[in-house]
Amino acid sequence: MLLAEMGRKKEPMEVPQLLIDLTELRQAIDGALENYTRDATGAPQRLVGAMRYSVLAPGKRLRPLLTLLASQAISGNWDAAIPAACAIEFIHVYSLIHDDLPSMDDDDLRRGQPTCHRQYDEATAILAGDSLQMLAIEVLCKAYDCELAAKCCEIVAVSAGRQWLVGGQADDLAAEGRYGQVEIANELRFDYLKSIHRRKTGAIIEASLRLGGVVASASEAQIQHLCEYGQALGLAFQITDDCLDVDGTVEQLGKQTRKDSTHGKLTYPRVLGLEGSRQLVSELIANACQAVSSFGETAAGLVQIARFVEQRRS
Ligand code: IPE
Ligand code: IPE
Ligand code: MG
Ligand code: MG
Ligand code: MG
Repeated sequence: MLLAEMGRKKEPMEVPQLLIDLTELRQAIDGALENYTRDATGAPQRLVGAMRYSVLAPGKRLRPLLTLLASQAISGNWDAAIPAACAIEFIHVYSLIHDDLPSMDDDDLRRGQPTCHRQYDEATAILAGDSLQMLAIEVLCKAYDCELAAKCCEIVAVSAGRQWLVGGQADDLAAEGRYGQVEIANELRFDYLKSIHRRKTGAIIEASLRLGGVVASASEAQIQHLCEYGQALGLAFQITDDCLDVDGTVEQLGKQTRKDSTHGKLTYPRVLGLEGSRQLVSELIANACQAVSSFGETAAGLVQIARFVEQRRS
C-alpha cells in the first residue's frame, strides 16, 4: 500500500492534521533512481542488471521520503534533496542485498521477488551491493558543491560504517550465537538489543533525516530535532519489523516471515512479547512526533510517516 493511502489512528494535539499526498515525491524518487542506475557506460551488464533489479523493485522508499520531507520541513521544498535521498536508498538496498545472503540471514524473497543472489548469483549480489555503496558516494559528490558533498559523504560513511549499520549487523549475527554463546547479564540484554536495532536500522534512518536537513541548510538546533525524530522512528521501525516477522504475511511484506525465531535472533517480541513491543512502538512514535512539533505544519509529512510506521502491515 502507498504511504499516501495510510490513514492515521490518532492525532496528538500539537501536530498538524493534514494528510499529505506523497505520490509526487515517490515518483520523483523512482525517476531519479532509474536515471542514476541507467547511466553505466563501461560497467558489466550483469552487474548493472543486478543493481537495478534490487533498486527498482517495489520498496516502500521510506528513507528517501524521509530525506525529502526533512528538507521540506526546513526549507519548504525538496528538489535539492533528491540526490541525497537516492544516495541513502542505494545504501539501504545494498544493506538488504547483503542482509539476504546465505552467510547472513539467508533469505529467498525480498520486495516480492527472489532475492538478488537467488535471481543472479552470490558473487554478483555481493558486487551489486559493493557498487551501490560507491554509487551513493558518487551521486553525492557530483550533485553538491565540495563542502556540502563532504558533509553528506561523512553522514553516509559514518552511519553505514563499522560503528553503526555494519557493526549492528555484525552483532545481530553474533546474538544468534553463531560465534559462541554471547555472555550478557539478564539486566543488560534489553540494552544490547536496543543497541543492535539502533545501529543496524536506526542509524540509516537517522542519517536520512540528517541529510535532508543538511541539504536544506538547517541550523544545528533543527538538525537536532530531526535526529531525535529519526532515532525514535528508526528504533520503532525495526521493532515493527520484528513484530511483522511474527504476525505478518508474506503477501503483505514481500518477504518470508517467522525467520527470526528460526535463526534464534534477538528480537523485541522475544524479549517483550508482541503486545509489549507494540506498546513501546506507540511511545516511540509519540516521541518522534513531539521532536518535530516545533516545525508546525511543514512537518506534516514526517508526522504522517511516523503514523504509518506505527500501524504498518507492509
Ligand atoms: C527492511 O526495510 C529492512 C529493515 C531495516 C527492517 P524496509 O521495510 O524499509 O524495506 P523496503 O525498502 O520497503 O523493501
Ligand atoms: C535488517 O534487519 C537490517 C538491515 C538490512 C541493515 P532484518 O534482517 O530484520 O531485515 P529483514 O527482515 O530481512 O528485512
Ligand atoms: Mg538481518
Ligand atoms: Mg534479514
Ligand atoms: Mg526482519
